[in-house]
Amino acid sequence: MLNIAIFGSGSGSNYQAIAEAIESGTLNARIVCVISDSKDAFILERARRLGHPAIHLDCAPFKTKLDGEAETRAIEIIRAHGGNFIVLAGFMRIIKSGLLNAFAGRVVNIHPSLLPNFPGLEAGQQALNAGASKTGCTVHFVDDGIDTGPIIVQRTVPVLPDDTEESLMNRIHIEEHIAYSTALQQIASREPCAV
Ligand code: GRF
Repeated sequence: MLNIAIFGSGSGSNYQAIAEAIESGTLNARIVCVISDSKDAFILERARRLGHPAIHLDCAPFKTKLDGEAETRAIEIIRAHGGNFIVLAGFMRIIKSGLLNAFAGRVVNIHPSLLPNFPGLEAGQQALNAGASKTGCTVHFVDDGIDTGPIIVQRTVPVLPDDTEESLMNRIHIEEHIAYSTALQQIASREPCAV
């Protein structure tokens, strides 16, 4: 059974889509806690509304990675809530080897492009700058690279001639909400059943 700890830094719409897929029975998993490095992130407000433990994780002194004491605390929090799987949903920090080794092969991420194209920040703007005719989203296992790791599910959207970064990202977001639950159910269907 996937007992999921969600990590996010922002709005949390992917988290909410995953929670709704579980609620509707299309995804066989549990969300055990929602963790954010930003105490004012809307993802924590969504978690409170949906009745999931909403936890602020102070990641200082680091600005762009989850490392050191915060990483140790993250592992403790996940284990204390019975988590055995990590879903990164807009978490704006690099995950380091301590967490990856503690949950080996059990950390996934979503990225708003068809990887390996346009990794890193501002993937929508990268697609526009490159003149791509299509882009999309990718759910992938996390390894020690940036948006590398084995791909689980991809969904494609067209890039339209009058697209702005905002209009393109909105179109990608709709597909992300489908892609994440689809990918997690693929993984869940290979998991041993809950006792
Ligand atoms: C998504 O576009 C995801 O691909 C990226 O961060 C965004 C998170 O959106 N990694 P939300 O917080 O789930 O609404």
